[in-house]
Amino acid sequence: MKNILLALLIALPAPLFAQNDANMGIIPAPVSVKKEKGEFKLTPETIIFVDSPDSKAVRFFADYMKKAGFVGGVTDINQVDKKQRSLKNSIMLSQNFKGDMPAEGYDLQIMPDHITINGRYSGMFYGIQTLIQLIHKTGSSGYATIPCGVIKDHPRFGYRGMHLDVVRHFFDVDFVKRYIDLMAAYKLNTFHWHLTDDQGWRIEIKKYPKLTEIGSMRAQTKIGKVHGVDSDLFDNTAHGGYYTQAQIAEVVAYASDRFITIVPEIEMPGHSMALVASYPELSCDPTKPYKVFENWGVSKDVLCPTDATFKMLNDILFEVMELFPGKYIHIGGDECPKDAWKKSDYCRQLIADQGLRDENGLQSYFIGRIEKFINSQGRSMIGWDEILEGGLAPNATVMSWRGETGGIAAAQLNHDVIMTPGSGGLYFDHTQSKSTQEPLTIGGNAPLWKTYNYDPVPATLTKEQQVHILGVQANMWTEYIATPAKVEYMLLPRMLALSEVAWTPKVNKSFTNFSEGRLPHHLAMLETQGYNYRVPTPIGAKDTTVTGDKFSVDLTPTVEGAKIYYTIDGYTPRETDLQYTTPIKFTIPAGKHIDFQAIEITPAGKRSIVTAIKMQN
Ligand code: ACM
Repeated sequence: MKNILLALLIALPAPLFAQNDANMGIIPAPVSVKKEKGEFKLTPETIIFVDSPDSKAVRFFADYMKKAGFVGGVTDINQVDKKQRSLKNSIMLSQNFKGDMPAEGYDLQIMPDHITINGRYSGMFYGIQTLIQLIHKTGSSGYATIPCGVIKDHPRFGYRGMHLDVVRHFFDVDFVKRYIDLMAAYKLNTFHWHLTDDQGWRIEIKKYPKLTEIGSMRAQTKIGKVHGVDSDLFDNTAHGGYYTQAQIAEVVAYASDRFITIVPEIEMPGHSMALVASYPELSCDPTKPYKVFENWGVSKDVLCPTDATFKMLNDILFEVMELFPGKYIHIGGDECPKDAWKKSDYCRQLIADQGLRDENGLQSYFIGRIEKFINSQGRSMIGWDEILEGGLAPNATVMSWRGETGGIAAAQLNHDVIMTPGSGGLYFDHTQSKSTQEPLTIGGNAPLWKTYNYDPVPATLTKEQQVHILGVQANMWTEYIATPAKVEYMLLPRMLALSEVAWTPKVNKSFTNFSEGRLPHHLAMLETQGYNYRVPTPIGAKDTTVTGDKFSVDLTPTVEGAKIYYTIDGYTPRETDLQYTTPIKFTIPAGKHIDFQAIEITPAGKRSIVTAIKMQN
């Protein structure tokens, strides 16, 4: 029994900073934290009282504690005689408390002899996530400790999204669940699942089996860039995959157990080559040969706005809605080239018959018809900001990705908006620094600080219009991300910055406190869970040239337990070089220079990129 809690899955020894940190090390930073003296000792004898034993949040915590080696289970407090009840050495999870609580909010009180979480539904779940972050292993004593404090918390935004493109590269159910686990741990609540595109169709539709028989597989893939330079090379290797409806249902339930709603995306009228390759009769020229797109970029072949197309899309969306119970269905709507429509007599006639201005009007007509169907089924439609062009469908929510312009325009028209601008550091397929040591990406630069500092509410909107900003999302497009390890590398730690953008009141945000005070412990925890992540370069290290005769180098690791190694001879530093332990002073003779290079290596052997400080006199 003695060491039973040492098996706690993610717990690490209490970091030194946690005693000083105003946020008690929690990510995302809560609304209010009052630290108290002392700690609660979690022992094998601790009782977990609950007043709603069948709730999802309680089941999650019971399961977490069981996996961590805690054998006591949970006790329904209503089954315990009032006179026999003692809260000593207990954790009380209460959903049936009196009084109001902000949406998704919770109160967490940690006292030396007991812990209480008050929260309803997702609020209780988020209180539990905070508690889990605060559990720390002790050395050899056989119990874990939780520092005392009082936390009151609720999110800034109701929509806290993370997207994953499973088309450009396919990721299996186990990985999708792992991704959802990460989102849940950091209080994100919406998973945008990009399921169809030019390069593949990834969801089984029973009525149209060719969508997966043909559309789920591409014969080969454009290599795209070789050492960063565009190329026309192909890999000569088939790539594909799809989720059966049973698998989709399993993921939907898994996400729901973690208070995550899935927004499925079915792209139309562009980004639809996989559909067109499966059913060419939906194109504007069925005589042409079509295949699942092997290139990156955007196919010029798109869906033709015929009745047959709308019939099939409605049938597809009907099956999609049966699988995904959430409010929103995403219909894409982005980057639809009009070439095929311009060449089509049918489209020209339709534009005339409907009194439309041009092909943009036709796109608007297309999206409007689809919205009508989605609304008729009691759901709401989201589209990328191109759906503004030619006129916005009456009830559409706009996902603003080309900067904030589309989002601002939509909010001014009293439409709901989700902000996800690439320019705001929310495209996680962009690089995390400008160094040539970063892995290949599609381009763009979205360093951690940029993601962290993004504010989804444009100051140009009035207070009434700002209410339409439902929240924020980051996108993970996978043209140049072929493996789960690389998805994690691109996701972490930026997703933790996103969680703070989405959750934390603006006044409580501080990039220094986040990146230097709290992140190092979280990265160490993620490492013990086996996640891959980008190791941030040491605090104080950046590529720079400085001029003068005296310098001091002062570095701190960005991951708890990591070591920094350095060279001053122009060679790339590695673990066989000098270990940095204390600030170093340099004196540079006139006319000379010293190249100081540093690398950070974590306990599991993950490496930062190398930074170089050129000190010259
Ligand atoms: C997008 O990045 N095309 C929405």
